[in-house]
Amino acid sequence: MKKIGLLTSGGDCQGLNAALRGIAKSLYNRMGRNIELYGIQDGYRGLMEGICRRMDADDFSGILTLGGTVLGTSRQPFKQMRTENDDKVKKMKSNYKKWGLDCLIILGGNGTHKTANLLWEEGLNIITLPKTIDNDLWGTDMSFGFQSAVENAAHVIDCIHTTATSHSRVFIVEIMGHKVGWLTLYAGIAGGADVILMPEMPYNIESVAESLRKRNQQGKRFSILAVAEGAISIDESGLSKKQFKAERVKMPYPSISYRLADEIEKMTEQETRVTVPGHFQRGGSPCPYDRVLATRFGAAAAKLVVEENYGNMVSLQNDRIVAVPLQEVAGKLKTVPLDSEIILTAQDTGISFGN
Ligand code: F6P
Repeated sequence: MKKIGLLTSGGDCQGLNAALRGIAKSLYNRMGRNIELYGIQDGYRGLMEGICRRMDADDFSGILTLGGTVLGTSRQPFKQMRTENDDKVKKMKSNYKKWGLDCLIILGGNGTHKTANLLWEEGLNIITLPKTIDNDLWGTDMSFGFQSAVENAAHVIDCIHTTATSHSRVFIVEIMGHKVGWLTLYAGIAGGADVILMPEMPYNIESVAESLRKRNQQGKRFSILAVAEGAISIDESGLSKKQFKAERVKMPYPSISYRLADEIEKMTEQETRVTVPGHFQRGGSPCPYDRVLATRFGAAAAKLVVEENYGNMVSLQNDRIVAVPLQEVAGKLKTVPLDSEIILTAQDTGISFGN
């Protein structure tokens, strides 16, 4: 008999329920009655506060297409150094032991993986699945949630096209992605954006304005910029983390896009609007790709449980599912490589990166 805890942590995304279902179905298939599943409520918070419930096969039925997470989630609990968090670690370890778990399967992104690795180093049996719309997890080509978010963000850009052309306007669509530009790059290409700004390539406002002026001179009635929420200008790229924060705090706007819109209007005399789809991007039903990927990851995690192969994240590499040690994943960010084929494709098709 094995008792397995399930936990979803960090920002939600599409495919979490599909992954939970994949884990459960595979475990029941492989181990029959010799498995007991426990759902931990609201991520690490539930693990610390001891909130968990026994789940059975029916709990995983009918959730393949459901967005969000049936377990609930919360942001990861470690903002300070580890020594200051020993109490939290102690609580998590003690609940794991109290419930008699043989393994904890954790579905999460970057922050979640730091904590997962910490718990693994503290002696708990941990297996993880990579989820995030940002696609910034090291060690996997793809995390589930990403493709669904690309679909949602591209849909927003599609809709903006019609209103932008009717009014002859410049539109900025601000896209999530935290500190990386994967989501903006893919949604921008899929949505036919004219300019893509992302953190990996600090932008020069002069170049951005110039590309918009050029489109205007060519008789184009509109321009669309896909701007990553983490985009930075070349002036900001030289600042220390502290200086950068201080600069951004001074801004009278909720995000970079509004400053950019002001600058563009002044420099090009083209009417400019901002659209921020925000959390819409990670809401709703997972796209078929994510349903399949999450199911593959779920089944792979179940196999690791049976093999007692702990301390790993299941991952996708060259379209094969493999296990990557947690130490290799924790604390690393997967940014967009500037020499990648996808960047070159964007440049070849006339997209400006404003640099
Ligand atoms: O990591 C997923 C993500 O949606 C990022 O793209 C975004 O920066 C962040 O989460 C938003 O966080 P919250 O849901 O806490 O507002």
